[in-house]
Amino acid sequence: MGSFQVLFVALLVTAVAFDQSFVDAKFSNSMYFNWGASHSSILGNGDDLQLVLDSTSGSGVQTKRAFLFGSIEMLIKLVPGNSAGTVTAYYMSSTGSKHDEIDFEFLGNVSGQPYIIHTNIYTQGNGSREQQFYPWFDPTADFHNYTIHWNPTEVVWYIDSIPIRVFRNYENEGIAYPNKQGMRVYSSIWNADNWATRGGLVKIDWYSAPFVARFRHFRARACKWNGPVSIDQCASKSPANWWTSPVYSQLSYAKNGQMKWVRDNYMIYDYCKDTKRFQGNMPPECFKPQF
Ligand SMILES: *[C@@H]1O[C@H](CO)[C@@H](O)[C@H](O)[C@H]1NC(C)=O
Ligand SMILES: *[C@@H]1O[C@H](CO)[C@@H](O)[C@H](O)[C@H]1NC(C)=O
Ligand SMILES: *[C@@H]1O[C@H](CO)[C@@H](O)[C@H](O)[C@H]1NC(C)=O
Repeated sequence: MGSFQVLFVALLVTAVAFDQSFVDAKFSNSMYFNWGASHSSILGNGDDLQLVLDSTSGSGVQTKRAFLFGSIEMLIKLVPGNSAGTVTAYYMSSTGSKHDEIDFEFLGNVSGQPYIIHTNIYTQGNGSREQQFYPWFDPTADFHNYTIHWNPTEVVWYIDSIPIRVFRNYENEGIAYPNKQGMRVYSSIWNADNWATRGGLVKIDWYSAPFVARFRHFRARACKWNGPVSIDQCASKSPANWWTSPVYSQLSYAKNGQMKWVRDNYMIYDYCKDTKRFQGNMPPECFKPQF
């Protein structure tokens, strides 16, 4: 065989191996409305979603299937103008009282004031790990890429390919890590003016309704979850580089530099610095490097 044919066969083998675990999901084939479908819509070729909040209700979608590890990508354009009291969410979650969850939430604000990008992670039902950021761009002017990378080693929250947060696996040191429960992907918009605006200081301005958040290009490149499977089973169904490529293991030096830039300049809350809240009894992962 010539090198071209070898390459072709190699690509084919990779594609077949990938197919076991690889889901190239769109809204139209992988998500459904679990709330407020009557006033929201999937548009275009199935790659565009609008979620609407008005005085009748908010709205939301979720994936039909759950995933265990993967790269979950979504382009989002947030509610413009006076969005105070609205919360737009994009997150993964399992179910049950000991659930795991990885969150991006976007807390609206009055016109001209910054959104808050709120992140959190729950492991075995235990959350309280909030970190918040101001965006370094106007998140209502255009679509931006919010991606969650989740593998056995670490969870990374990315915005436009810049990592903003890492939660590393320190399970062998007694800190729970999300690696045993499949999670579905959810997006929603709702009225949270009882807490999102600094404890309810600002109420939603219903004269500005309807509030529309736009989503585009949802992609879950992830291991399908079909009930309890071990990491090894999942890995064995994944492309060879899934666990070893730099994207899925530790961040590069350059990516760490970008993350430091965001955290030095745009981070506005870090639970690991909130000694008052934890009364000096800080969560154990706060003493570990998270990159
Ligand atoms: C979104 O960001 C992720 C993480 O950096 C990247 O892998 C992906 O290619 C990006 N997608 C688009 C459409 O830019
Ligand atoms: C809205 O903007 C104000 C002023 O910059 C800021 O203090 C506040 O934290 C922002 N976010 C919310 C959700 O109110
Ligand atoms: C739950 O999380 C908090 C904050 O990270 C931590 O202090 C606490 O030890 C955790 N509890 C359990 C049971 O894991």
